[in-house]
Amino acid sequence: MAAPGTAGFSRRRRATFAVRQGGSLLSVNGGSVAACQSSDTREQGAESPGKKLGAPEAAQLKGKSEKQKRRNDKPSDMLSCHRTQESLLSSASGYNNYRGVLNWCVVMLILSNARLFLENLLRHGILVDPIQVLSLFLKNPYSWPAACLVIVSNLFILVALYTERQLSKGSFGEHVGFVVHCINLTVMLTFPVAVILTVPSVTQDDVFCMFLVGGAFALGIYTILFLKLYSYRDVNMWCRDLSSAKAKKLSRSLSCPSGFSGDNLKVCYPGNLTLKDMYYFAFAPTLCYELNFPRSPKIRMSFLIRRLLEMLFFTQLLVALTQQWMVPIIQSSMKPLEDMDLSRMMERLLRLAVPNHLLWLMFFYWFFHSSLNFSAELLRFGDRQFYKDWWNAESVTYFWQNWNIPVHKWCLRHFYKPLLKKGFSKMVSQSAVFFLSAFFHEYLVSVPLRMFRLWAFMGMMAQLPLAWFVGKFLHGNYGNAAVWMSLIIGQPFAVLMYVHDYYVLHHRLDTD
Ligand SMILES: CC(C)(COP(=O)(O)OP(=O)(O)OC[C@H]1O[C@@H](n2cnc3c(N)ncnc32)[C@H](O)[C@@H]1OP(=O)(O)O)[C@@H](O)C(=O)NCCC(=O)NCCS
Repeated sequence: MAAPGTAGFSRRRRATFAVRQGGSLLSVNGGSVAACQSSDTREQGAESPGKKLGAPEAAQLKGKSEKQKRRNDKPSDMLSCHRTQESLLSSASGYNNYRGVLNWCVVMLILSNARLFLENLLRHGILVDPIQVLSLFLKNPYSWPAACLVIVSNLFILVALYTERQLSKGSFGEHVGFVVHCINLTVMLTFPVAVILTVPSVTQDDVFCMFLVGGAFALGIYTILFLKLYSYRDVNMWCRDLSSAKAKKLSRSLSCPSGFSGDNLKVCYPGNLTLKDMYYFAFAPTLCYELNFPRSPKIRMSFLIRRLLEMLFFTQLLVALTQQWMVPIIQSSMKPLEDMDLSRMMERLLRLAVPNHLLWLMFFYWFFHSSLNFSAELLRFGDRQFYKDWWNAESVTYFWQNWNIPVHKWCLRHFYKPLLKKGFSKMVSQSAVFFLSAFFHEYLVSVPLRMFRLWAFMGMMAQLPLAWFVGKFLHGNYGNAAVWMSLIIGQPFAVLMYVHDYYVLHHRLDTD
């Protein structure tokens, strides 16, 4: 075995030998250059033999060594200056450093958006009004139906907890428990719909804001709770199944009387059936219940404040861009939509695509990074994988597996795998998951708008043939471009369809 330093020493000797043989030897490896030159750079090498050089130093050394080499060239070498080589832009060259092109794209993007920004300002003036949103909520301080709906949702949480407690004690049989859970979950989905469709104050005055912000917010909370309570029921049922199976096999059961197991205070069934545990799950940034969630050691204040500032900043930016950029385009699309002027509709669609996409990206960051991390940090919830690298998706399937991890996890654990276990094929199970997802997308859009048009539903269901097409015919960068295309064009298309239908339904009736 070589003594420490021997390898370095022999490497240096080999390098010196190479210098003596041919003048200079230069090896470039990922930006660091180990250079061994004949005369002028040998001193530097002796000073710091193992030192890695930065890019400018490396370039300088390379230049020097090339000059040195040229000086040493024999006259016969100077007769030829060509060798067989590919142009950089041809794929055979193997060249793939397009950093400069990426920077160019960013500069072009900023410039073209600056032009759009100026054009928008010149045409519409400043439309941003942060007070408008607040005043909408403060206009009628005693009638906040969305907030009332959210408060009432606690009832469903308590019913689920009560049912599970009764099941654990044996006061409810499995069948009775199942029926109570089913009723609880069904009422949970239908109750807010009934309120939004019947209580006039939800749909008064500023239709757009109240419908979309108030109604969609309340429905979003109910949908999240629905998925959580479904998971809560499943996991507690699995615990009962496991403990009774163990009780049959062994004399010991999984459940422990104290509710805690062993030294590390892990809670076990039925010790988890407490109000504290239930509300921890209700607020935790996950849809999948677990008896012992991974916990982070402490709350990092600087992380928490950064996420909070991001949340506030992006909320303002989202509202401002909607008021200044989205709303004028949507308003200007009404006429072409009404006249069914196809070329103008196409132009409006493409015009809407840019702000819609930017808002969607900001929403992604605001929700999946800032907000979920904020609540996770506050609750010391350890699992922060809320999204994966969906932006690199080369297939539609990869996108759906990685863009919304909480929903994907829920789908896999509580719907997809149980269907597979029951013997359904992969194709049927995937279609069932997308059907359920399509139902909830439509639910969240149609109910606040009080208009059932199935555009969101069809958009989600279209993912299945799209996934098949992209998976079969487009790969690599083409697949990635297809995923981006579907996101950039698909969403504003659905938005315009709802706007069109909404306009036809309300404004045409008004003018008639
Ligand atoms: C439908 C969906 C769940 C499919 O997911 P997927 O990852 O492509 O599914 P796969 O067939 O690759 O299998 C996933 C899992 O099932 C398991 N599995 C596959 N076939 C199985 C079988 N016959 N029996 C048991 N398990 C099986 C796999 O081993 C894998 O397990 P792992 O997660 O532990 O590795 C996913 O596309 C999805 O979540 N779609 C909806 C997303 C959505 O609507 N999001 C809303 C965002 S707003």
